[in-house]
Amino acid sequence: MKRKALYAGSFDPITNGHLNIIERAAKMYDSLTVAVVVNPNKNCFFTVDERVDIAKKATENISNVEVDSFSGLLANYVNENGFSVVVRGLRATTDFENEIQMAQMNASLYTNDTETIFLMTDPQYSYISSSMIKEVASLGGRIDGFIPDYANKKIHEKLKSGGKDNE
Ligand code: COA
Repeated sequence: MKRKALYAGSFDPITNGHLNIIERAAKMYDSLTVAVVVNPNKNCFFTVDERVDIAKKATENISNVEVDSFSGLLANYVNENGFSVVVRGLRATTDFENEIQMAQMNASLYTNDTETIFLMTDPQYSYISSSMIKEVASLGGRIDGFIPDYANKKIHEKLKSGGKDNE
């Protein structure tokens, strides 16, 4: 049986830290779906379509990765699409508290034997987040090296246009 893995997140936008997790997870499973989550609790900078577009561009050279989006419960999306694994990245011990709660709640909602697995974030990305990168860019700081070139270009285009067209 093919092993389908899921890596979900806001990806607002995808960073090199996320990409590092994606590249490593893609080697471990037959296929990896990167899913952009429509999260009503987060006021996102990019629209869902923009986040999907940026994630697609960033992963276009990894043959077993596809990009999708969903709204609602992650567990429902997992159950409906038959993922056997949900991949999460851990940056620091502070991520662990949140992650264990989510993993345990999700485990109670999965209808198949889906497992959550954690990959340790590469230390060079352990202190970055999408918000921090957007803040640095908005204040004129350099963000190359932390984010794919296309995402970098899109952030600067959007900042120039005043961050219009959000969801
Ligand atoms: N490298 C760089 N940054 C990383 C990273 C890595 N390896 N891993 C995480 N981050 C950053 C993210 O960019 C994000 O930054 P931001 O807050 O500035 O946007 C931050 O760390 C938190 O990431 P994460 O914990 O993955 O949050 P998220 O919002 O991206 O994803 C969901 C959380 C979408 C998976 C979760 O909210 C969810 O499952 N939602 C669906 C609804 C649901 O099922 N709820 C019940 C859950 S039990």
